[in-house]
Amino acid sequence: MDNHRTRRAALAAAIGTLTMAGVAAVIVAAPPSNAATATLGSAAAAKGRVFAAAVANGHVGEAQYINTFDTEFTGLTPENEMKWDTTEPSRGTFNFAAADNLVSHAQSHSMKIRGHTLVWHSQLAPWVNNITSGTDLLAAMRAHITGVATHFAGKIQYWDVVNEAFDGGSRRQSIFQQLIGDSYIEEAFKAARAADPTAKLCYNDYSTDGVNAKSTAILNMVKDFKARGIPIDCVGFQSHLIVGQVPGDYQANLQRFADAGVDVNITELDVRMPTPASQANLQTQADDYRKVVSACLAVTRCTSITVWGVTDKYSWVPNTFPGQGAALLFDENYAKKPAYNSTLTALGGVVTSASPSVSPSVSPSASNSTSPPPVGGCAVTYDMNAWNTGFTTSVTVKNNGSTAINGWTLAFTLPSGQAVTGAWNATIAPSSGAVTARNMSYNGTIAAGGSQNFGFQATHNGNTAKPTAFTLNGSPCSS
Ligand code: XIL
Repeated sequence: MDNHRTRRAALAAAIGTLTMAGVAAVIVAAPPSNAATATLGSAAAAKGRVFAAAVANGHVGEAQYINTFDTEFTGLTPENEMKWDTTEPSRGTFNFAAADNLVSHAQSHSMKIRGHTLVWHSQLAPWVNNITSGTDLLAAMRAHITGVATHFAGKIQYWDVVNEAFDGGSRRQSIFQQLIGDSYIEEAFKAARAADPTAKLCYNDYSTDGVNAKSTAILNMVKDFKARGIPIDCVGFQSHLIVGQVPGDYQANLQRFADAGVDVNITELDVRMPTPASQANLQTQADDYRKVVSACLAVTRCTSITVWGVTDKYSWVPNTFPGQGAALLFDENYAKKPAYNSTLTALGGVVTSASPSVSPSVSPSASNSTSPPPVGGCAVTYDMNAWNTGFTTSVTVKNNGSTAINGWTLAFTLPSGQAVTGAWNATIAPSSGAVTARNMSYNGTIAAGGSQNFGFQATHNGNTAKPTAFTLNGSPCSS
């Protein structure tokens, strides 16, 4: 833990001063350009794809975590909550509380759900390792699959039925392989189909991202299953990648699986690098994400991309690969990274100005902090898009006067129960009550007759009323 703290502290020191932007009370994020292409999920949806993230139930109470997830993603994979050690910790006793919570969250946000995972040698309940006969283990495996897949039946788009069963070009010598033999994988798929006939059933593995002995062995298994009528619908490519090392044949590899008659999914994408992250590596990482997304879009049957976590703050990477991290799209402060922008762009979304970087390298202009210029009339449009616990806004400030405004502060009062969690194209402080939105350094000018737009994300407790009055540099605006 100390090492992790030290590493995180070093990373925070490297980028924190930039991302916290000194006086800004809320994180400044890159601005969405319009509703259709403003988020990863909406851009992917326009291409008929799902853009998902692994989510940990333990973090959903953190406002920035869940707001970032809900805003940007259209699919959810429980990071650990559906694994055997959690769902059947003792034989015949099932526990679905954490997974149920994630599933209902996803359903209430119209997100797709990936079940992960039914049969895996890791995070296996300890009692399974005490089984000594193939007959007993097969019975236990079938009962586990039946219990879990029946519980979630009808709610899962894709199930990772079997995870990581290969080791290079051969079968991994897991307890399932050793006691049951080769047939355990097909038995698992048959049991899953019987328990949930509507889910698509996938095989999922890592280091299968290019054409290699392991991916070829899996492809051969898929072809064999197809030939013998064993139900298999999809293959997941975990894609836990190292910065700068996307295989050149990534797309060709996906395509050969698609050609074998299965959907392909990128299931656990992350791109790790030594920490603290260098600017150069963050740029290379952006290019890596672009390559992966472009490859998926180029393969018709590549239907979803899942990143293995919402934020670098909680990524599994530093715990598993000491000295490595910074693998995801949002940094530890939930700022959008260069990889976010390259991913959004590759998905066909539009990243507008400010997008940067590890950090918005811009800080609020000081020009409006002392004596703001007079305003010769202004108008505000305040659009809200609310769901049960939060909302986003798009606020346009129009200068109706005949001279340009250089430096602006828009003051308004948020109705009770509303609290800002993130903003773009402005800094907003404080987060609730009477707030002011200030221009960034790049959008301080509002031309005569022109306008500027900013937005923010907020939580609410049921009250979705809009502010009733706005003043620009102290002058009231119409709204
Ligand atoms: C990881 C989780 O992210 C960690 O929180 C957990 O401690 C270990 O497992 N391949 C998989 C995932 O299929 O389930 C793993 O998830 C990462 C590697």
